Parts: sequence; C-alpha cells; structure tokens
Amino acid sequence: MRVVDLEIEDIAFGGKGVGREQGKAIFVPYTIEGELVSAEIVREKKQFAEAELIEVKQSSPDRVEPQCPYFGRCGGCAYQHISYEHQLAIKWRQVRDALQRIGKLKDVPMRSIIPSPRQYAYRNRITVHAQDGVIGFFRRDSHRLIDIEQCPISRDEVNLALADLRAEPHVRDGHYTLRASVGARVFSQTNDEVANALRDLMVDLVLPNQPLLIDAYCGAGFFTKALLDKFERVIGIDWDKFAIGAARENATEKETYIAGDVDVELANLSRSGGLQSAESDKQRLRSDRSLTLIVDPPAIGLSENVRKAVIDLAPRTLIYVSCNPPTLARDLRELQDKYVIDLVTPLDMFPQTAEIEVLASASYG
Ligand SMILES: C[S@@+](CC[C@H](N)C(=O)[O-])C[C@H]1O[C@@H](n2cnc3c(N)ncnc32)[C@H](O)[C@@H]1O
Repeated sequence: MRVVDLEIEDIAFGGKGVGREQGKAIFVPYTIEGELVSAEIVREKKQFAEAELIEVKQSSPDRVEPQCPYFGRCGGCAYQHISYEHQLAIKWRQVRDALQRIGKLKDVPMRSIIPSPRQYAYRNRITVHAQDGVIGFFRRDSHRLIDIEQCPISRDEVNLALADLRAEPHVRDGHYTLRASVGARVFSQTNDEVANALRDLMVDLVLPNQPLLIDAYCGAGFFTKALLDKFERVIGIDWDKFAIGAARENATEKETYIAGDVDVELANLSRSGGLQSAESDKQRLRSDRSLTLIVDPPAIGLSENVRKAVIDLAPRTLIYVSCNPPTLARDLRELQDKYVIDLVTPLDMFPQTAEIEVLASASYG
C-alpha cells in the first residue's frame, strides 16, 4: 500500500493520531499532534484511512520512551510514548470537545483532570487469555494473542499471579482474571487510588441530611456505602446478583439493593416511588425534588428508557459517572432541557491507555 507523509493534527478518541491527505482523515497510532510522520496506509475507506507508523520525522517534545516491551503490538496501551502531563491534557480536551460537539453544551464547566498517583503498576486486575499454550492479551485491532510475561501497568501482585499461571504445566484454553487481592468476583474499580478520589469527590458533592439516594448500576455498592451517612434511605440497582449479594452482606436497615435491569427497575421506581408508603413518598420527592440519583453505566451509556425514567424521576441532583465521554455527551444532550450541568471532572483511571473516566454533576433547573 501507499506511504504518505503527514502532519498529525489531533488525537482521536481511542488514541490514534489524525493527519489529513486532501482533507481526508488518516488515523495513525502511536503519534502525537504536531509531529511529522511517514505512514503506510493499510486500510482505505471513502471517508477515512488507517495507516501504520513507519517513521517519526519530526517528533513532539512530549514524546517519551515507552516502558513496556510489548507496546506497539499489544492492544492494551495507546499512550506510553506520550509524557504523562500530555496524556492528561489530551484526555481533558477530549472530554470538553465531546461535550461541546456531541453534547451541544455551550459552556462546559470543566474542572481539572484528577491524575493517577501511579502512572504504571496501578491495575489491580487483568484478564488474560490462553490459547494453544500462548497466555497474554490480544494484539491491537485483532483477536490474535500476544504472549505476555509481564504487564507494567499492572500491580506487582497481579504480575505475580500471571507468573504463577504461566508456571502451571497445562493451562486450559480460556479467560483468566488475575487480581491483586482475593476479594469478591464482582465489578470493582481498576485503579484503587483514582477510584478512591472519585468516591471522595462524590462524597464532597452531596449535601448532608438528604432523604433518598438511588444508585443505578451500583455494583457491590462502592458509592452507596460511602454516602450512607448523608441519606435517610438508599436504593442500589445492579443486574449482577453476585454484586448485589456482596452489597447486601453488611447492609444496614436503610439500604435496599435490587438485583435487576436498570432499564426496568428505574422505571418501576419512578412509577411507584419504590418506597413503602409509595404515594406520599413519591409526592414528597416530587414536591421538593429531593432525590439524588447516581448513574454509573457501562460504556454504552443510558438507554432511551433510562433517560426517560431519569426525566420522570426528576432528581434534584444527578451524578453521572462515565467511562465513555461520547455516550455521556449524548445523554447529557438529551437531559439538558431539564438539567443544568454544574461540573465535569475527568479522572485518569487508566494511565497509558486512551480510556477516560468522567464525573458530571447536574441539578434540576
Ligand atoms: C461501570 S460498573 C459500575 C459499578 C459501581 N458503580 C462501582 O463503582 O463499583 C457498571 C455496572 O453496571 C452493571 N450493569 C450494566 N448494565 C446494567 C443494566 N442494564 N442493569 C443493571 N445493571 C447493569 C454491571 O453489572 C456493573 O456492575
């Protein structure tokens, strides 16, 4: 295929650099905006093309040496060649751009991005795949495995677990989740320090003496449990019954955990109030709009049903935790007639990767 010389203009979601040839976007992984590169086109479509980096002809001052021998082949990390400060700047900008372009928000109340104290050795779990004696991660843009002995973004305990797995004489084909601690087998945040910063941020946002919290997509109650002191009553919803089981284990009287689909259960709560004296509670919540709602959905964001239920429930405070700025932006766009966005704080839960975590807080207005 053709080799082209390009100036990289921007970094797209997912981490690839973007250059242009006669207006057409060409995506080149492992580049930085401002760099001059030559790249080989490997896939050409009508609207855009994909290329592989051949040479950096003029490099960015933000270019650094990657720490991982598999970087460039492994599908996990996209940013090890970029200084940490600049990774943070890219992520912050991408959140703002998504909210402006997709969310159509004019003034985005962006706060500083919260960095990760550990830039490597932060992951408290990984899932590796085993096939025909190869144990590791998928190659970039492929379902072929790359044999991995060590993952530098993972904590030492995780790498020890990987070494133990690799030392087993016959590892069956399949997927293996390796964890730093032998805890619950349910969803847990991946970077402990940044997860704690996210939880603390949420605790600071919520006023004391509130009547009701609904934590949708609550997992094992990571946020719910931290906010208990501020509410008379809390309701968590998650369809993972093991996570709900873990949340119920040490639950106090004021905690209710529902094992079910948020799509269905949030609409049910908006119909019934979800409380014992349903009608009067519902009226009270409606009249002073004193409900606080947290949503922390997977990357696909909120379904139309869930967005409808949010509007119907009319929480006074809506806290949206997202791992995908474009779907966050789409959802906030749908909600912006009813809600004023008070603040948007990106967090770097996943250094060296292109993943971005964001907390947005909004009030009914
Ligand atoms: C990003 S995690 C958030 C977990 C939790 N907030 C925490 O911090 O540990 C998303 C959670 O949503 C749950 N989930 C995804 N889709 C769901 C749905 N339609 N209904 C209920 N739970 C869902 C998953 O089981 C997972 O626990």
